[in-house]
Amino acid sequence: MIDFELSETQKLIQQTARDFARSELLPGASERERKGEFPAELLQKMAGLGLMGVNVPERFGGTEAGVVAYVLAMMELGAACSSTTVTTGVTNMVAEIICKFGTEEQIRAHVPKLVSGEYLAGAFALTEPGCGSDAASLATTARRAPDGGWILDGTKQFITSGAVAGVHVAWARTGGPGAKGISAFLVPAATPGLIVGREERKMGQRASNTVSLTFDGMKLPPDALLGEENRGFRIAMVALDGGRLGVGAMAIGIGNAALQAAIDYAKERKTFGQRLADHQAIQWMLADSATELDAARLLILRAARLKELDRPFTREASMAKLFATEAANRVCSRAVQVHGGYGYVDEYPVERFYRDCRVTTIYEGASEIQRMVIARSLLEE
Ligand code: CAA
Repeated sequence: MIDFELSETQKLIQQTARDFARSELLPGASERERKGEFPAELLQKMAGLGLMGVNVPERFGGTEAGVVAYVLAMMELGAACSSTTVTTGVTNMVAEIICKFGTEEQIRAHVPKLVSGEYLAGAFALTEPGCGSDAASLATTARRAPDGGWILDGTKQFITSGAVAGVHVAWARTGGPGAKGISAFLVPAATPGLIVGREERKMGQRASNTVSLTFDGMKLPPDALLGEENRGFRIAMVALDGGRLGVGAMAIGIGNAALQAAIDYAKERKTFGQRLADHQAIQWMLADSATELDAARLLILRAARLKELDRPFTREASMAKLFATEAANRVCSRAVQVHGGYGYVDEYPVERFYRDCRVTTIYEGASEIQRMVIARSLLEE
């Protein structure tokens, strides 16, 4: 059965996110991004609206509205301020994986704080200076302490919310080489030995926080292990399957905003005696952008629905993330083109959309990784 209607709950989450995005996120988005101002207060307000745990069970403080509702919210938020949206996406992802792989105590210790805003954010510390795409080659180590706890040494790179998160999920090598020797750990903020590096100066999404983290003989208790020893790589992969839907949805939001800006401008600006919108060259750009965004939306919704039904969705998530983020980049590029010289200066918003969108084909698994995941699944069949 194919039903394109949204449920009442999905509509409610979508509307809540849309209202908040328009009234609270959008007005200061450009200025925050320009200044690199972290949106702490806004994130707390969003937690109050249930947007930090959209797919988290109610008994842990979440909204329990499902994965489709989550991606709908990410599309709305992404259209206004992607710095805030990526922070929201990573926090939702961290809350979800703690729920999925944590013990009751671990969940109770962190998830209610993540979804209520008591923690400003959650962080996902997988990438290292020497490995991003090839995550299974990570070099951070975790060795057993005499008291049964753990001692971590190593450096993580490009960690979203690394300086502001209340809890980090961090991956480290506990066994041999490759994916089979990796474990996941819960690292609360301010753990002695956790050193936060300087903030990265990024091309876009500058109001999000991106830092390196160094673990210098960082001591963790025995119950910091998330899931089983040496089985942590799978946790990262499962989390990323879901995270990719969030990033793809956010990219659609950025693309939607860029397309709308291009439409508005094309109706107002005149060249050669008529509106830009009356030139076929411009019309085709708008038509291609709308078509690609719609296709992306359908791919994201299908993958989200599969996840919600607890069915395999890895390939579909990678297809959706690949297509949505690349389409959104094309849409933003066309929107700049429609604006001409005004698209290249910060007087109009498309310059920010273009910069903000660029990273979406890189983080949460680069396009090349999505193609690798898709091709492997085709060839394994
Ligand atoms: N679900 C469950 N298990 C999975 C899985 C999935 N989607 N993908 C792989 N696995 C399991 C495999 O079954 C295998 O398990 P066994 O050893 O038990 O057989 C194990 O994981 C290893 O799998 P692979 O052999 O496929 O591993 P690989 O080394 O070839 O790597 C990869 C696979 C897909 C390339 C992976 O390294 C990858 O996703 N890389 C990209 C990393 C990434 O996305 N980083 C993003 C960082 S977070 C971020 O960006 C957040 C932010 O700031 C916004």
